[in-house]
Amino acid sequence: MPRYRSPMHERRIGHRIERHASVGSTNDRARELLDEADGDGSVVVADEQTAGRGRRGRSWESPPGRNLYASIALEPALVATDAWRLGLATALAVAEACDTVAPVALKWPNDLVAADGRKLGGVLIETTAEGDRLRGAVLGIGINVNWRRSEMPTELREQATSLADLVGEPVDREALLSRVLAGLEAEITAVEGGASPLARYRARCSTLGATVEVGTPEGPVTGRAVDLDPSGALVVEDGTGRRHTIGGGEVTRVRPAVPA
Ligand code: BTN
Repeated sequence: MPRYRSPMHERRIGHRIERHASVGSTNDRARELLDEADGDGSVVVADEQTAGRGRRGRSWESPPGRNLYASIALEPALVATDAWRLGLATALAVAEACDTVAPVALKWPNDLVAADGRKLGGVLIETTAEGDRLRGAVLGIGINVNWRRSEMPTELREQATSLADLVGEPVDREALLSRVLAGLEAEITAVEGGASPLARYRARCSTLGATVEVGTPEGPVTGRAVDLDPSGALVVEDGTGRRHTIGGGEVTRVRPAVPA
C-alpha cells in the first residue's frame, strides 16, 4: 500500500508515542490504535503492565518503574507469508539497541539473552491478515532493564537477568527506547523493501550449533540446531541424522555450542 508521509512526519515509527503509568498490556492498546487514522507507526509505552503477556499464552512479569514495555502499531506492506520477517527484524533492532549497553544474543525465535543464556527480554508479534496481505501488526517488546535479579521472583531469578545486572549500574530506559525505535525504523523499511533479515539474525543467534530440545505439536525434538531455513524455521538434526524443520516452538533446553 503506497504511504504518503509529509516532511513533518518523516519518521514513521514513533511519530506518536503514547505513554501510560499503568496499562493492562501495551499490545492491546497498540492494537486499538491501529483503528485510528494515524495509527501506523504509533508506539505505546507503559511504566507498568497489569496483564503483560508473552509468547505461547504466558504472562509477562511487568513491575512498575524498572523495565521497558513497548508496542508498535504497524500496517505492514507485506504479504501474510512474510509475517515471520517482522519477528526477526524486531528482535534484531532490540538486540542492536541493547548491545550499546552490554553484549546480547538472540535465542530462536526471538528471545534476547545474555552471554550466560539468561533471558533479558522478548518480542511478541501479533498480526491480522486480509486475504494474502497483512492488515495490521503489533510488535510487542519487553526488556528487563533495571529490574535486578535480587528483586525478581525466585522462579525467574535463575533463568532471567537485566541490563543493569549485566553492567552493574542503572540503565537509561528512555535512551534505550529511542535506539530501539530508530533501529526498527530501518529494519521495517528494509523488510518492506524486500530484504530478508535472516543472514544478520543467523549471525546473532546463539541457538545455532547448540544442542536443544524444542517443543513441537508432534512432541519434543532433541538434537543439534544446525540452521535456519529460508523462512526462519529452525532446522534440528537428531541423533539419527534426521533433520526436523520447526516453524514455531519453544527451545526448552539448551547446551551451548562448544567453541572451536
Ligand atoms: C516473550 O518472550 O514471551 C515475549 C514477551 C513480550 C513482552 C512484551 S512487554 C510489551 C508487550 N506487551 C505485552 O503484553 N507483551 C509485550
